[in-house]
Amino acid sequence: MNLTKIFFTLLMILLISCTDSSNYIIKSPDNKIKLIFKIEDGKAFYKVDKSDKSITDWSRLGMVLGDGKDLGEGLKVYKTSKEKISNKWFPFIGEKSEINDVYNKLSISLSRDNIIYEIIFRVYDDGIAFKYSIPNHENIKNYDIINEYTQFNLSSQDSAWWIPAFSYRRYEFLYANSSIDQISKKYFSENVENISYDSLGIDAAHTPLTIKKENGLFISIHEANLINYSSMTLAPKGNGLLEVELYPWSDGTKVKLEKKINSPWRYIQVADNSSKLIDSDIILNLNEDPDKSQDYSWVKPGKYMGVWWEMIGTNESTWWQSENHGANNKKVKYYLDFASKHNFDGLLVEGWNKGWHPEWCCSGDGKPFSFTETVDDFDIEYLSEYGNSKGVNLVGHHETGGQIQNYELQMEDAFKMYNRLGVKNIKTGYVNDVSKNIRVLNENGTISKEWHHGQFMIKHFQKVIEMAAKYKLNIITHEPIKDTGLRRKYPNFISREGAKGQEFNGFSSNGINHAADLPFTRLLSGPMDYTPGIFQLKNFRFISPGSDKIDTNAIVPSTIAKELALYVVYYSPMQMAADLPKHYEKHPEAFEFIKDIPVEWSERKIINSKISEFITIARKDKYSENWYMGGISDEKERNFTIDLTFLEKNQKYNFKIFKDTKSTHWESNPMEYEIEEKIIEINSKSSYSIHLAPGGGFAIQIIKI
Ligand code: NOJ
Ligand code: CA
Repeated sequence: MNLTKIFFTLLMILLISCTDSSNYIIKSPDNKIKLIFKIEDGKAFYKVDKSDKSITDWSRLGMVLGDGKDLGEGLKVYKTSKEKISNKWFPFIGEKSEINDVYNKLSISLSRDNIIYEIIFRVYDDGIAFKYSIPNHENIKNYDIINEYTQFNLSSQDSAWWIPAFSYRRYEFLYANSSIDQISKKYFSENVENISYDSLGIDAAHTPLTIKKENGLFISIHEANLINYSSMTLAPKGNGLLEVELYPWSDGTKVKLEKKINSPWRYIQVADNSSKLIDSDIILNLNEDPDKSQDYSWVKPGKYMGVWWEMIGTNESTWWQSENHGANNKKVKYYLDFASKHNFDGLLVEGWNKGWHPEWCCSGDGKPFSFTETVDDFDIEYLSEYGNSKGVNLVGHHETGGQIQNYELQMEDAFKMYNRLGVKNIKTGYVNDVSKNIRVLNENGTISKEWHHGQFMIKHFQKVIEMAAKYKLNIITHEPIKDTGLRRKYPNFISREGAKGQEFNGFSSNGINHAADLPFTRLLSGPMDYTPGIFQLKNFRFISPGSDKIDTNAIVPSTIAKELALYVVYYSPMQMAADLPKHYEKHPEAFEFIKDIPVEWSERKIINSKISEFITIARKDKYSENWYMGGISDEKERNFTIDLTFLEKNQKYNFKIFKDTKSTHWESNPMEYEIEEKIIEINSKSSYSIHLAPGGGFAIQIIKI
């Protein structure tokens, strides 16, 4: 692993004996973003703008500890220091082969009585970040956090793209677009999806929260490096003011800590347009390199197929044992042969273990799953060996049903077993459809119910990732905690779901506009196991397993060309080809694109975009001079002229273009596409014109010749 770091630090420590009315200013390296800090009436505030356009107005900082110590009142600036940092680092796997980490840092030490703590600010060219660092101190009797005062004071005219926090289906919602003040479950139920039957908790939005400011700037508010803390949501308080609301424990405490506090980074990504918003590495820059002692060279990205869509999508098979049980020896062997023939690295098999039954989903109190015992018609020793011999490793599956203690008891044995069998990746799952329903049996025999995104679960996800590394396993989490960039420190946290993915198009529908929302919202945080690549977009779903009747109403709202585009637009180092072999066999040329596409990249170019409407991305293969391009549209038909001048001048490339036809339409004619192949020699004016059907897309393989 190449983690060489080019390090250059210019330290300027300013020991300032200050008057507390002073403002402390720090600017981005390009001087465009300015952050000002001040103390007023003993309270701490910050304010941010970019080239005189406001990002936040004065917004409060601070927190209250468990022993009642209010570290947001009676504050004085004790000392400050500034640093200029300029690093370059080389991600081990990712979207780029090198990342610049260049920012200015302002550390403010604040004193409250005789406790001194720090707020550390970083200002990058593409955003600002801050975190709290509270040391061990004899005067602090309890390090629990009762409240965080952090605010983001925006304008009420700003427009937000959001999903509701404190709601039953975790992050699996369509996106609302409204003013900040309208963020509420009521608004969501009336305008997006009805969630009124579960209105636990307060009104707040999950992060990343994407906002178009009234002054034209695009921002995204999120957190980075979320470890042993509770996750942050943003609650509207009127007039564009957002306050941090942490997911509490069932006893109301926000964060439980034994000693010094090192909060996650709170950050605001800032961009002049929607394409620049996507082209940012700030989340990774706010995370750390892996521990030096830990070797991750075994982490290998790849592509996988699965005995999966036939349960969740086509409804031909069951997870549990029945006449139509999917995970049976014969079926799995057939999939292994197919996956091997087409050079896939892995095969996911769900429903292989004991504990599945028709009512397994979704209340969190079903019969506990076993993670080591197989069902009778699945011979794990034979199948893993057979797959390994053909170059296809089984992708393990652990659906926990949100029964954490049951999982943690078995986890090490289960990981040991998978490691012995040659498994490299495990997909985990936490379906438990009331999000304050994680049952915890306490030492005193009482049962409490914790939130899916509170500190209890964040600690659990951390245990999983560390234990998995011990057994050289990558984890792809479904129903996860959101991505806060931990993949930099823990490269085996290889991918995750954490949004409404393709699965909903199997058993319900995401509608036609959701796919174009994701790049500007959820995907800003990191890779997603969306599970693209469905080719049979109509007449695919049987009314029940074993029936030969098709549910003609079921459609996957997409086009085949768009499904291909998603492999470029949605980054994931473990990428699935989600459809069934029989459906791929009908479209061998389009399937070739999925087989060829890399999963590791050296460069990313956002070619065009309009938030929530369309986006085109080009990515360069990490191991060759070839490029891949994908573009997707919402429900509208579009014609793009693609600027090709990012390619090498005077160089010929072979373009293989998969595109919608003039009569393709996501609803009436989704499976029609055409392939055009041509050689283009690039000059300073090269471009390519392409048509996207309503709800469609395109994908291009660009091979250097
Ligand atoms: C929900 C996951 O997102 C899906 O992929 C999986 O098949 C089911 N849970 C069962 O574990
Ligand atoms: Ca899911």
